[in-house]
Amino acid sequence: MCAGSGWKAVPGSEHGVTRCDCQLRARAAAMIVAARIPKRYEHCELSNFTTDFPGADRSISLSQITAARFVQEFDPRDGKGLLLVGGIGTGKTHLAVGILKELIATRATACLFCDYRELLKQIQNSYNDSVQATELQVLRPVFDAEVLVLDELGAVKPSEWVWDTVSLILNTRYNDNRTTIITTNFPDEPAAGTGSEFSPRSSAFAATRRESLGDRIGERMRSRLHEMCRVVKMEGPDFRTKFKSASFG
Ligand SMILES: Nc1ncnc2c1ncn2[C@@H]1O[C@H](COP(=O)(O)OP(=O)(O)OP(=O)(O)O)[C@@H](O)[C@H]1O
Ligand SMILES: [Mg+2]
Repeated sequence: MCAGSGWKAVPGSEHGVTRCDCQLRARAAAMIVAARIPKRYEHCELSNFTTDFPGADRSISLSQITAARFVQEFDPRDGKGLLLVGGIGTGKTHLAVGILKELIATRATACLFCDYRELLKQIQNSYNDSVQATELQVLRPVFDAEVLVLDELGAVKPSEWVWDTVSLILNTRYNDNRTTIITTNFPDEPAAGTGSEFSPRSSAFAATRRESLGDRIGERMRSRLHEMCRVVKMEGPDFRTKFKSASFG
């Protein structure tokens, strides 16, 4: 269409030309590479996220609607993201990656996918003298991405360092009004001992109590997350074990 020039004619328009689709496609392809979506999730799109399968929970179709609306209404100045909370294999990462891809394709948004465990490992590695990258070099793209997916928040055993690092990442993005999409397996509930959680004070209950997001990232950060993100609950069966080998692939 453009004979390799990158511009195509638009008769009657102000400049008489516009960028050719080939340029837009090349740009989108480069942005997908820059988003560092892991191979395992390359197939994930909003369009192939199924909501109609045996045993599908209502929360799954609601989450899909929320994701589609999020893309449609995305305003980079708003900074409000999503916190996708749910059990194993409910499709949290699929939906998060689907949103990224759609934002790249339709809005040319600079996106980045980040696995929480990987990121913390890379930062820790950067303290090692034999590794060239500095902590800031590892974190710079995480701070700068217009939209960041932080996958598996809370999956690293909590420590003072983990809490400080999470708060550095989330607070920096919050202060810069950047959008963050987070997935987590941990229920969006307060940390133990904060007094606000449901806690019959028996030691048996404490022993069997499931760890919450508050336990894993600290109650202050959890509350900050609520300012940064809209909470989306995803419930139901593990898609991997139930359907992955069947026709839903
Ligand atoms: N509703 C769905 N429609 C189509 N594919 C799905 C759906 N839900 C999940 N999948 C597929 O099932 C697999 C597991 O989904 P995904 O990784 O998104 O789950 P998850 O909630 O992030 O799980 P985990 O908590 O273990 O990280 C992926 O290959 C994904 O593409
Ligand atoms: Mg996941």
